[in-house]
Amino acid sequence: MILKNISLKNFTNYEDAYCDFDENINIFVGDNAQGKSNLLESIYYISTISSSRKNKDKELIKWSRDYFSISAHFFNKYGENKVTVKVIGNKKEVYLNNYKIEKRKEYIGYLITVIFSPEDLYIIKGEPALRRQYIDNELSKTDVEYFVDNIKYKKILEQRNILLKEFKRRSVSDALMDIWEEQLSKYGIKIIKKRLELIEQLKEISKEIHYRITDDAENLQIKYQTNIDIENIENSYRKLLKEHRQKDIDKGYTSVGPHRDDLEILINGISAKKFASQGQQRTISLSLKISEIEFIKKKTGEYPILLLDDVLSELDKKRKHKLLEEIENKVQTIITTTDLNDIENFFIDKGKIIIIQDGKVL
Ligand SMILES: Nc1ncnc2c1ncn2[C@@H]1O[C@H](COP(=O)(O)OP(=O)(O)O)[C@@H](O)[C@H]1O
Ligand SMILES: [Mg+2]
Repeated sequence: MILKNISLKNFTNYEDAYCDFDENINIFVGDNAQGKSNLLESIYYISTISSSRKNKDKELIKWSRDYFSISAHFFNKYGENKVTVKVIGNKKEVYLNNYKIEKRKEYIGYLITVIFSPEDLYIIKGEPALRRQYIDNELSKTDVEYFVDNIKYKKILEQRNILLKEFKRRSVSDALMDIWEEQLSKYGIKIIKKRLELIEQLKEISKEIHYRITDDAENLQIKYQTNIDIENIENSYRKLLKEHRQKDIDKGYTSVGPHRDDLEILINGISAKKFASQGQQRTISLSLKISEIEFIKKKTGEYPILLLDDVLSELDKKRKHKLLEEIENKVQTIITTTDLNDIENFFIDKGKIIIIQDGKVL
């Protein structure tokens, strides 16, 4: 996929901006707080119709204005497309090639981005929820069914949790609980199966990439962690829910299921969550992101667009070089930096330099 250009109106600190992109490398250069990350965020936003930082849409409207809009032209396997999003207060309108998009799922797969920002370090050391979010995001970018099932699962989970609390106050029929558990199990199983498929593929890809980036020094392993018996998945989740019912009533929430699962990450057999250094964490999360790019290519036949926010300054020269080798001539990439010295010359020569200053693209 290739992003041709983007136009912003009242988006964060931009009032009226336009930017053309090179189909290979683009480098946003500027001092701190000028709008580099915001411009990257606008590209992410137009690809998922939501913020990467879990910001509310409203917060992306330029202060003291009442709307923002983003418009972009891009190429994918279907040809040239134009997408426009306009957010006015709490309302959002999306148009793809001048047709109105009513639901986000209709737009899935048109424009796919993979973003890497400093916060992604937390994928390694942070709470399990962040790793689940990483998995969910990845699957939802290319798989409409997963995206929809995940929403349904969360709604049913909420219902069971409400019922658990009711149970504590007064007796509710077991049959009612059976029904919600049956539903939870149905969607939960679908979710776990797809996550296992994803991890199975990512495992192989990320191992290879990580070996290349670390010069064969680090063996990266990833494993999906669940207490559902995956050999007997059809019955296991339902059984487990029933077994945990009393405990869950006491606690007031559902203690088993894909919403509690995790991703285990090992380097040379040792838990990365516990022992990886800052540099290792960064490299692992980069390997995972690059694997994601390859996964998306395998699944859709197209490379997504890679957005790298402030990553290069933190990597040593050798790893930086390896990273750039992985993406060069393959993936349209947009990198932000405060200092061009952080980027290798051969990259600068090839890339388009875009200067960002005070909410303006110069
Ligand atoms: N809704 C908004 N309206 C106006 N300015 C905003 C809004 N949201 C963020 N900003 C401002 O945008 C500026 C640039 O942010 P950012 O893109 O993160 O800079 P950079 O990545 O270049 O360091 C920040 O100073 C921030 O206060
Ligand atoms: Mg920034």
